[in-house]
Amino acid sequence: MDLETVKDRAGPRAFSPKHDLPEEYRKAATRMIQFHANSEIMGAYLERPFIRQAPSLDRKLAFSAKVQDEIGHGQLLYRAAESLGIKTRDEMLDELANGEGKFLNCFHYPMESWTETPMIGFFVDGAAMRRQATLKKVSWEPYAHAMDKICFEEGFHVKHGEDILRELATGSRKEQEMLQEAFDEWWPRIIQFFGPTDDKSTHHDFSSEVGLKLMSNDELRSAFLTAYVPKAKKYGLEIPDEPRIEKRDDGTYKVVEDDLDWDEFFTIAKNNSAGSKEQIGKRHDTQEAVEWVRSVLDENERTTTGTAPQAAD
Ligand SMILES: [Fe+2]
Ligand SMILES: [Fe+2]
Repeated sequence: MDLETVKDRAGPRAFSPKHDLPEEYRKAATRMIQFHANSEIMGAYLERPFIRQAPSLDRKLAFSAKVQDEIGHGQLLYRAAESLGIKTRDEMLDELANGEGKFLNCFHYPMESWTETPMIGFFVDGAAMRRQATLKKVSWEPYAHAMDKICFEEGFHVKHGEDILRELATGSRKEQEMLQEAFDEWWPRIIQFFGPTDDKSTHHDFSSEVGLKLMSNDELRSAFLTAYVPKAKKYGLEIPDEPRIEKRDDGTYKVVEDDLDWDEFFTIAKNNSAGSKEQIGKRHDTQEAVEWVRSVLDENERTTTGTAPQAAD
């Protein structure tokens, strides 16, 4: 199939591994799904140490289930990316550990306190739900299919994140202050979740032409703000003065894009910030520590089926 035919036929779940698709499409879809998979893993790594800090047994169980879900999302997505025939799952995991793999800007910053957990569990996952709901109609069927399960679980994450937020927002004065501090720090990153405004986004046009992107960054950001500014206020959080958030006549919200630090965003996007190096370093060390498990499994596969996992041509 040539690129023009792909553009003509692009629609919800239009393409699957049975189609002969041009490399340009397969590479663009791989880049997008790999980024998504990496982000699931790196978000989980950031949250994982806080399982120990959960304030009750029930909270610990729910939080640990949430972290496991995120790792599962990552694995599901590597499989969906692998089905495009460009990279294997192992190659993508290696790229993540060696600093070549890109992931969401929010997950490059260190997380220090339990009061920060709803920043991911409620706001970032809430932002993710905005985008992911649209991805159920993406043109690469294995990706859309993975989103059915992922969105179902993300719905639980957002409810759980909101419950932690509510608990802290109605807790002691100290907890309320810490929650506001966490919000002040995370708010600009959360707004940057959707990436740069469309005229600065390098991949926007092609991805929308071939059905990989269904809503623009600005549309998604505005939809998120319109839903979440009132929710933040409901829990007593004050919206910081910067970046400025403006209400349009139709009741929707938009951010003044120039108030956001896009230089920092692009430094992070290239894995070049101090935080990026620290988070990637942790991932690298973990991957190395469990390398023996991977070799045992590979060896087992080789001896039982006569084949070892192969890299794609
Ligand atoms: Fe997830
Ligand atoms: Fe999640």
